[in-house]
Amino acid sequence: MKEVVSVVLLVLLVSVSDANETKPNTENFLQCLHNRTRSVNPIAESLYTHNNTTFVSSYVSYTKNKRYSNPKDTKLIAIVAAKHESHVQSTVVCAKSNGIQIRIRSGGHDYEGLSYISSVPFVILDMHDIRSITIDVSKKQAWVDAGATLGELYTKISKASKTLAFAGGVCPTLAAGGHISGGGYGNLIRKYGISVDHVVDARIVDVNGNILTGATLGDDLLWAIRGGGGASFGVILSWKVNLVDVPQTVTVFKVNKTLEQGVTDVLYKWQLVSSKVPQELFLRAMPKVANATVSGKKTIAVFFYAQFLGSAKKLMAIMNKNLPELGLKSEDCYEMSWINTTMFWMDYPVGTSTSHLLDRPSDPPRAFFKSKSDYVKKPIPKEGMEKIWKTMLNFNKMYIEWNAYGGVMDKIPANATAFPHRKGNLFKIQYYALWTDANATDNNLGLMREIYHEMEPYVSSNPREAFLNYRDIDVGSNPSGKTNLEEAKIYGSKYFLGNFKRLMEVKAKYDPVNFFRFEQSIPPVRAM
Ligand SMILES: Cc1cc2nc3c(=O)[nH]c(=O)nc-3n(C[C@H](O)[C@H](O)[C@H](O)COP(=O)(O)OP(=O)(O)OC[C@H]3O[C@@H](n4cnc5c(N)ncnc54)[C@H](O)[C@@H]3O)c2cc1C
Ligand SMILES: *[C@@H]1O[C@H](CO)[C@@H](O)[C@H](O)[C@H]1NC(C)=O
Ligand SMILES: *[C@@H]1O[C@H](CO)[C@@H](O)[C@H](O)[C@H]1NC(C)=O
Ligand SMILES: *[C@@H]1O[C@H](CO)[C@@H](O)[C@H](O)[C@H]1NC(C)=O
Ligand SMILES: *[C@@H]1O[C@H](CO)[C@@H](O)[C@H](O)[C@H]1NC(C)=O
Ligand SMILES: *[C@@H]1O[C@H](CO)[C@@H](O)[C@H](O)[C@H]1NC(C)=O
Ligand SMILES: *[C@@H]1O[C@H](CO)[C@@H](O)[C@H](O)[C@H]1NC(C)=O
Ligand SMILES: *[C@@H]1O[C@H](CO)[C@@H](O)[C@H](O)[C@H]1NC(C)=O
Ligand SMILES: *[C@@H]1O[C@H](CO)[C@@H](O)[C@H](O)[C@H]1NC(C)=O
Ligand SMILES: *[C@@H]1O[C@H](CO)[C@@H](O)[C@H](O)[C@H]1NC(C)=O
Repeated sequence: MKEVVSVVLLVLLVSVSDANETKPNTENFLQCLHNRTRSVNPIAESLYTHNNTTFVSSYVSYTKNKRYSNPKDTKLIAIVAAKHESHVQSTVVCAKSNGIQIRIRSGGHDYEGLSYISSVPFVILDMHDIRSITIDVSKKQAWVDAGATLGELYTKISKASKTLAFAGGVCPTLAAGGHISGGGYGNLIRKYGISVDHVVDARIVDVNGNILTGATLGDDLLWAIRGGGGASFGVILSWKVNLVDVPQTVTVFKVNKTLEQGVTDVLYKWQLVSSKVPQELFLRAMPKVANATVSGKKTIAVFFYAQFLGSAKKLMAIMNKNLPELGLKSEDCYEMSWINTTMFWMDYPVGTSTSHLLDRPSDPPRAFFKSKSDYVKKPIPKEGMEKIWKTMLNFNKMYIEWNAYGGVMDKIPANATAFPHRKGNLFKIQYYALWTDANATDNNLGLMREIYHEMEPYVSSNPREAFLNYRDIDVGSNPSGKTNLEEAKIYGSKYFLGNFKRLMEVKAKYDPVNFFRFEQSIPPVRAM
């Protein structure tokens, strides 16, 4: 009974804070922006409205999924491509006082476009111009602005030191703002954990437009934005992160085998060893729909990628001992600098110039995609794997990444940061389907639901865990403007497990009126 009462109270609380809405007033909002920035850093050149001919190109240049690339499908009022911290502060203050929501966008990679779509009047606060990076080699630390890309960060680090790196993701155009606040997972995970494990400070604009950092940034808020996503709490301007040591020479390989070459057996064995091998070794397996040699027929090819913090000779010894079934040959292994491995992981041919890490392609997205995630705690039996291959063959372009866990991930407590998926996982799965014909959308979304359903017996349950950075609207969501607590508990428990309750408390402390809200935001709920 007591539980029922408190649930009712909580629901009331959440709807009360959402009910306090000012009617959207666009004209006042724009006037307020100009007024607040006029004397210091005029905002006009950072402000795009429907009247600007560059409005649409500004929208799509950081829009990575073609499914959400038409601003007319949204209630977008304006884009503020902030050039100064004061632009960020003013956008928050003026949007809040004029009943306009904001979507915060740094790199625009959100799989469901939640950084740039909404069905209630909103402004995009685009952080891509706030992108400086400073490296302190002696302290092994860096300040990284939200709009800086991983490629820019990795490049700066490698220019400053050959033996330092950052534990972050693979794609160089991901931006620090979204990527780090959602966890930040990459191929150093088994040795060093994920990005949030290396965040020591931040600069964040809160709901009142104040900048919190160092002593003014509470430990609880810093904890929350390390894995809880930034967008429920404020606007992250910058991160202070620790860098990690890497040897001057790192070894990588990428080999593939098809079903016809008996890859199911190899991959079964991979499940048993990939989370147990030395933590200097990260192994990814990637089953992918491929063309069979017989023309017109499809098959599954599994690509095995490795990143090893050591020599090729040592790597060969580890592979021969733990996964001889792969038949790795020493000529498959490449020794190179850590920065060059970042190119290798992007499938660039060995020897490609690292200048590509600085690319910021601004053309509209070419492909539609859908992604989902899972965590696996016990090996998937071979019959299960065979079933998955059959469903995969219904797609044209689709792959599933199996990303090995273990190493330090088994040692970091689940509540050390807001990111909870730690001990006891063999690997994390990402499903990824890609298509270029709009008419194929329904079919691909349907197939994704089908394969997700089919995987249920083999993956985590109660709750079925999901990775925030692999945003998936199917795991539960609210409408753009309203936050229903019961619905939030559904996605919240999958993304955050036991950390969800504390995240709601931090939210209640720093944003009690629930201004920073979106389809999968954290609702403000004080401890009862
Ligand atoms: C091609 C590709 C490869 C990927 N590879 C990896 C990988 O290797 N490892 C991994 O962990 N993830 C990976 N991801 C997922 C990626 O980390 C997430 O999509 C991440 O959220 C992207 O951050 P962003 O700033 O680029 O995206 P955005 O779309 O700009 O933001 C994503 C989310 O963060 C919020 N946000 C953005 N900036 C701020 C800010 N300054 N303050 C507060 N909130 C903010 C947004 O509102 C949104 O909710 C990949 C995605 C893609 C498309
Ligand atoms: C409504 O919002 C305004 C502005 O955020 C705030 O000052 C006021 O206290 C809120 N009122 C209630 C009843 O929550
Ligand atoms: C902007 O400033 C002008 C002149 O100071 C003032 O009259 C107006 O009310 C202000 N508007 C807003 C929305 O702040
Ligand atoms: C958009 O148009 C307005 C009004 O013409 C102008 O002041 C502003 O500078 C333009 N914005 C950009 C980013 O060019
Ligand atoms: C756009 O231009 C029209 C007239 O050309 C004007 O009435 C309107 O106020 C402008 N809107 C914005 C947001 O600048
Ligand atoms: C798969 O491996 C074979 C060698 O076994 C190689 O020739 C081929 O290029 C690889 N395929 C891809 C797409 O890398
Ligand atoms: C397979 O072959 C088809 C037709 O030749 C081609 O369009 C497609 O891109 C190929 N797919 C892959 C994954 O190579
Ligand atoms: C890294 O790649 C560049 C090509 O961009 C090459 O010139 C260089 O020798 C490589 N260095 C190492 C250590 O791998
Ligand atoms: C994490 O949980 C442990 C007990 O399980 C507790 O002692 C510790 O204070 C918690 N840490 C945080 C940051 O909440
Ligand atoms: C998609 O469907 C529309 C309407 O059914 C049709 O006109 C169009 O030609 C189709 N496009 C492709 C690429 O098949």
